[in-house]
Amino acid sequence: MGETCEAPGRLRGVRTVVRRRRPFGRTVGNMRIVIAGGHGQIALRLERLLTARGYEVAGIIRRPEQADDLRAAGAEPVLCDLESASVEEVAAHLQGADGAVFAAGAGPGSGAARKDTVDRGAAVLFADAAIRTGVRRHLVVSSMGANPKHEGNEVFDAYLRAKGQADAYVYGLDALDWTILRPGMLTDDAGTGLVRLEASTGRGPIPRADVAAVLAELLDTPATAGLTLEVISGSTPVGVAVKSVAGN
Ligand SMILES: NC(=O)c1ccc[n+]([C@@H]2O[C@H](COP(=O)([O-])OP(=O)(O)OC[C@H]3O[C@@H](n4cnc5c(N)ncnc54)[C@H](OP(=O)(O)O)[C@@H]3O)[C@@H](O)[C@H]2O)c1
Repeated sequence: MGETCEAPGRLRGVRTVVRRRRPFGRTVGNMRIVIAGGHGQIALRLERLLTARGYEVAGIIRRPEQADDLRAAGAEPVLCDLESASVEEVAAHLQGADGAVFAAGAGPGSGAARKDTVDRGAAVLFADAAIRTGVRRHLVVSSMGANPKHEGNEVFDAYLRAKGQADAYVYGLDALDWTILRPGMLTDDAGTGLVRLEASTGRGPIPRADVAAVLAELLDTPATAGLTLEVISGSTPVGVAVKSVAGN
């Protein structure tokens, strides 16, 4: 480890040019999306989908050895540990972006402390950095059951509280056009492209590939700003489901 956001240009192929922010709604071809947790299982799938749609994509990672996997997915790796970076450092990586996606997570092997530093703290930091840079469109991969007042002493309880606290923080940010997505139980099954996407779906599984497809569609649908949505596998094509919640 050792490298931090202070050295964003150390990775081969990392761009250091300062960009002017473009308003969301321009053609996809010149839009840049920055994904926090860029080597995550959902994030890598999303990077492939977005680059195939013509987006320019960057992914924030904390381990240099993951950089080639991002390049293979068509994304630009950006080295930055979201548990130790300052808001200014993260903001520098969001410079010139048209949208931001928080897809990081402490992961299944972690304890309550990292639920707080990643699932809550890094999400709050990323949102603050987006505001600092003026990047309005903001997607958060939260979790079904996220609740800032969730009770209990198990690690999973701390996880649901941390996710809920992060979501509650984002709700209060008028400077962001946020959409919060709360998937049910994630699987590695092949995507079906068929989902149930509603304010409240009830419990159920969903392939990570389908969550990535929903995120890509949400980015293409700014009218979903201000919505908190649960998603599980279902019977509605992703594009139709997103249009439906967007009200058109
Ligand atoms: N499992 C479920 O059933 C479920 C259900 C609903 C929602 N979710 C949530 O969905 C989200 C995405 O899921 P996923 O399966 O794609 O997760 P994942 O594969 O565990 O990816 C999370 C990514 O966050 C990165 N990360 C952790 N700490 C970081 C830091 N300090 N700085 C930068 N990056 C950091 C990890 O990188 P490293 O490799 O460096 O650790 C990892 O690549 C997570 O927030 C998860 O909690 C999960």
